[in-house]
Amino acid sequence: MNILVNLSDNYKRWADGKLEGFTDKIDDLLVEINNPLSISTAEKSQINQIIKSKNVVFFDVNKPIPDKKKQIKAYASIFGMGDYELDSKSDTDGLTEIKHNKKTQQDIEYIPYSDKQLNWHTDGYYNSQSNSILSWLLYCVCPSDDGGINKYMDHEIAYILYNKNYQNITKLMIPDSYIIPENKSNGRPEVKNPVFSFVNNRLNMKFSMREKNIIWNEKITEEINNLKNIIESSHDYHLTYKLQAGQGVVTNNVIHMRTAFTNSKNKNRLLYRLRSKIRVSC
Ligand SMILES: [Fe+2]
Repeated sequence: MNILVNLSDNYKRWADGKLEGFTDKIDDLLVEINNPLSISTAEKSQINQIIKSKNVVFFDVNKPIPDKKKQIKAYASIFGMGDYELDSKSDTDGLTEIKHNKKTQQDIEYIPYSDKQLNWHTDGYYNSQSNSILSWLLYCVCPSDDGGINKYMDHEIAYILYNKNYQNITKLMIPDSYIIPENKSNGRPEVKNPVFSFVNNRLNMKFSMREKNIIWNEKITEEINNLKNIIESSHDYHLTYKLQAGQGVVTNNVIHMRTAFTNSKNKNRLLYRLRSKIRVSC
């Protein structure tokens, strides 16, 4: 909810409700899907209810799925996702395998496809406003033995905590809060973005803790540092979970990070990812 255009009572009610309703108990955020080939109406309504209030929902498919990629795409469309981001690593539908790729130097340096820690970010922070990633799905085919734990923080909670501490949210809404320089190798032009914006009246956040390839506007250095502190220090509002094989998560592009991981001889971490330009609001 936009603090700038809503009555303070309405905003306070929404913000208090979000903070009081927070849970880090994964069981309360997880829906078991009994028949992988068909989500029941009750399961779907449970999924809708959780993501509507928390912006994150986990799902668990106990039985083996015959064609995982096809089925995950089918689930995503049931969740309301679509208009997927296509990139050099995705298939023609936008599904990407997230795994440690040792093939080229470029792959090694590109952190999502390495075994390194991935710091707090929202997906697509280098996309333009008109091309924003509003939701994403991860499905775990195989976890690593060691590490590869994700942490999540609802971006609406980060916004609420910032507003509780500071009265200058507009500074993080300026259209040139940061610049992503032009990428000559893939032809991506320079991009300027706000951190917080409202898309169809719902909060959208573009953020990365990375220092590389992102130039923060010098006019808002203090505000960015304050926001980074809030994200890193608000342990009470972090969700920590390592997806197991057959489990997935759908989020409205909340802030998230991943710890480093180690593949073992016969166990290579593999997750599928879909990134959508549609918010899952149900
Ligand atoms: Fe991500």
